[in-house]
Amino acid sequence: MSQRINPSILSADFANLQSELDSIRSADLVHVDVMDNHFVPNLTMGLPVVQRLQEVSPLPLDVHLMIEDPERWAPGYAEVGAYSVTFHAEASTDPVTLARGLRDIGARASLAVKPGTPIEPYLEILHEFDQVLVMTVEPGFGGQAFMAETLPKLLLLDAERRRHGLDVWLQVDGGVTVETIGVAATAGADTFVAGSSVFNGVPADRIAELRAAAQQH
Ligand code: DX5
Ligand code: ZN
Repeated sequence: MSQRINPSILSADFANLQSELDSIRSADLVHVDVMDNHFVPNLTMGLPVVQRLQEVSPLPLDVHLMIEDPERWAPGYAEVGAYSVTFHAEASTDPVTLARGLRDIGARASLAVKPGTPIEPYLEILHEFDQVLVMTVEPGFGGQAFMAETLPKLLLLDAERRRHGLDVWLQVDGGVTVETIGVAATAGADTFVAGSSVFNGVPADRIAELRAAAQQH
């Protein structure tokens, strides 16, 4: 099964994003964390910055919106060309309609759940999405410890996609390292976001190590 490593530029040098993007060319997608200081207690960047990243990035963008009112904001990220747009189930009033709107614009539609949010209510709408992001830390900050108690959600999602033959990617985000990536892969994850574990070293080396560790499972 194909696997993807998506470095999160939340841990990159924000004053040198273009060279940081160049340093992760061996990855699959670039994970871009958009935070609004309301849905999460942190603030990062918005549409103008993501639009510019889209223009200069060698890799497609995997935009993760940790914001309130995704119905208002998410389509704009698809319109500037983001390959994938993830919004949070806890923030959306109508996830199916929003997902359809994102797909109509041409983006992959992705649904995220925080560690405490059950996945069962969303299994029946899995076919509306191209990806589900299971948060493996509380969203808001890089560098936190991986929460293994979230793994049963991946088992449920993996079983459901197999049952229906769906080509939906299962992403984990938060605390992904060479030590934790294996258990996530074993539980069914195929798309791995890694921020601090990539940018705290030589990114190309760290990406290769993560890839190798994920493939052993
Ligand atoms: C956290 C963000 C993550 C973050 C992960 O809310 O969604 O993408 O960058 O950082 P690490 O890999 O350091 O846990
Ligand atoms: Zn993220």
